[in-house]
Amino acid sequence: MRTKQTEQQAWNTYWQQHQTSNSFCCDYTENEGPYGVVSRHWLACFETFDTSDIVCDLGAGNGALAKLFIDSRKKLNCKQWLSTDIALTRLDFTHQKVEARQMNAEQMELIDQKIDVFVSMFGIEYADLKKVFAEVNRNLSPTGRYQFLLHHQDSVITKQSRVTVNVGQRILDNAFWQTLSNLNTLSFTELKHLLLQQLNIQMQKASFDEQEDVKIIGHSIFSLVQSSQSTHQVIMGLTEIVEQIKQQNSRLIAQINAAIQTQELSQLLEKSPLSCYKLSTLMYNHAILGWSVIGKK
Ligand SMILES: C[S@@+](CC[C@H](N)C(=O)[O-])C[C@H]1O[C@@H](n2cnc3c(N)ncnc32)[C@H](O)[C@@H]1O
Repeated sequence: MRTKQTEQQAWNTYWQQHQTSNSFCCDYTENEGPYGVVSRHWLACFETFDTSDIVCDLGAGNGALAKLFIDSRKKLNCKQWLSTDIALTRLDFTHQKVEARQMNAEQMELIDQKIDVFVSMFGIEYADLKKVFAEVNRNLSPTGRYQFLLHHQDSVITKQSRVTVNVGQRILDNAFWQTLSNLNTLSFTELKHLLLQQLNIQMQKASFDEQEDVKIIGHSIFSLVQSSQSTHQVIMGLTEIVEQIKQQNSRLIAQINAAIQTQELSQLLEKSPLSCYKLSTLMYNHAILGWSVIGKK
């Protein structure tokens, strides 16, 4: 329960601090590489919409999918697009057909509104899929469809999450980073020296895969030291960086757990009231990006 609350708090903060970009800080304008594959996957889905359709995005974050939809065409071929998430989100664009709502995908509050198309991009698997599928079925119009992209246990995203979580956890478990206020007695130069030492220790502990993540943290600490004038200022900044690592780990652990849940995806779909589905993996070169689920009521 406590973990769920921490996770939701981490998402609330993330979506308040980041703009339209999705949870990977990408706004889908990329046409190359894995983002290009994801982008084309959704553009093909948008083609299937009808002007009378009510579309509902589940676990939509700051509406990256709605933004891709809007940017991809002059006239939106739907009646309405509901961008929903359990977290407090902040869409930085407006469109008369797009509405943001705070909503739990496990307990949808769509009143009498029937949905023609449910979509979700790395969203529903953060909730209990059994409950979500029952809710999708309950709220779909008789001719309703759904298209979901979900995390996969062996995807490049999940693999990277595991690496980043390990690096973050090592820092969070380290006494030095837990007792930053003790450093207040140090001079600015002494503190700089100590931080360099700590970063070196982290770099030595890092496996080959982890080095990039340590470098990213090292870079933020380096920029902080460069832009600070006092020990106090650096300690404040470091405390903020540690908090960001905590929040990031919370989101990434949620991502890994979401991917673990999808190991049962095939059985969950079979047992669900939803029928007629196509389950496949979305690939970039030989790497798995996620599960693709397409179906209708
Ligand atoms: C990885 S983010 C995906 C956001 C967005 N689809 C994107 O691609 O940018 C996962 C989202 O699922 C949301 N989420 C988690 N549990 C949920 C639930 N029970 N109902 C609705 N949204 C949920 C989180 O708040 C988070 O914003």
